[in-house]
Amino acid sequence: MKPLHKVIINKVTSVNPIWIMRQAGRYLHEFREIRKKNPNFIELCLNDNLSSQITLQPLKRFDLDAAIIFSDILMLPYGLGQKVEFEKNFGPKLGKLNLNDVASVDEVDFVEKIYPVYKAIKKVSSDPSLKNKNTIGFVGAPWTLLVYMINQQSPKKNLKENFFKDKFIINRILLILEKFLKVHIKNQIDNGSNVIQIFDSWAGLLEEKDLPNYVYAPTLNLVNYVKSLNVPVICFPREIKNYKEFCDIVKPDAISIDYNVDPKKILRDIKIPIQGGLDPKILLTDKDKLKKEASKYLEIFKDHPYIFNLGHGILPETKPEMVENLIKIVKNY
Ligand code: CP3
Repeated sequence: MKPLHKVIINKVTSVNPIWIMRQAGRYLHEFREIRKKNPNFIELCLNDNLSSQITLQPLKRFDLDAAIIFSDILMLPYGLGQKVEFEKNFGPKLGKLNLNDVASVDEVDFVEKIYPVYKAIKKVSSDPSLKNKNTIGFVGAPWTLLVYMINQQSPKKNLKENFFKDKFIINRILLILEKFLKVHIKNQIDNGSNVIQIFDSWAGLLEEKDLPNYVYAPTLNLVNYVKSLNVPVICFPREIKNYKEFCDIVKPDAISIDYNVDPKKILRDIKIPIQGGLDPKILLTDKDKLKKEASKYLEIFKDHPYIFNLGHGILPETKPEMVENLIKIVKNY
């Protein structure tokens, strides 16, 4: 059985597999080399030779238990025909959303537009080095994608004024997203993804009263869909105030936690397998501090099914030696 499946399906507590959010990325010089020659990020994601190569880069260096395909949650609005660009030192920039255009996209056009993502998954998942490891596919949750599509850039702390003004448009987009997220998930699984992670990076922006409508209901729908395909699903509703309520309602197979929640409280409240938590900034400190902080998570979750990961993506300024160290700490625990 593959390492993440042992924990998520068999609820094994004697192993702690490890993978790292954004493990293929800018902290690796071999990634920066490729990136320098490929200034257009979307085009890079759509180059299946390079994106599969980038996906495998961290696995060549480190003893990680899973590959996560080098792509982006914003490939979905891109596939729906919205303009998506990544500007250096700014982040994603999306074009104005035209509801009629997005509403007229059909499944065939969508799949054709992002087909190389699936080809890359096929290449990675059939690579001999992945034989005893998981290949993780992922999507953005409907709420987080809605935020990017309407806000047209990362919201930082606040949403655009009048974000919720046009409920009709919002509800139409949520329905369109639901349809194409299912298509995207299905194609990733058909090409070899054997775990799906749903990233809801902006769940923490919502007031409690809005969670059922924008987070719980649409995510539950996707979680049920992934379960129907017999693949385990991990949810990461980042900075949501109440992880327990999220798990009780949405019932993912595993839950990924951010670094602002108290892991002891999570252990008391949540019965399903848990992933992540360590603050990525700890990797910018020193070996001793890293050992102390990583061991804290390993100790708290020693009798609970636990996948080691960070509480958000690895920072570009991280030294690869620190990742090497972290993996040793986890494997030798
Ligand atoms: O984890 C992995 O290694 C797989 C690849 C992956 C990327 N993005 C590649 C990427 C994954 C899983 C994502 C998810 C993603 N993308 C999320 C959810 C997780 C999170 O961070 O909350 C979000 C919100 C996005 C949207 C996005 N993509 C932003 C906000 C940015 C810019 C921020 C930044 O770090 O510059 C990106 C760009 C991006 N996606 C990069 C990578 C490696 C950096 C691109 C570069 O080289 O300039």
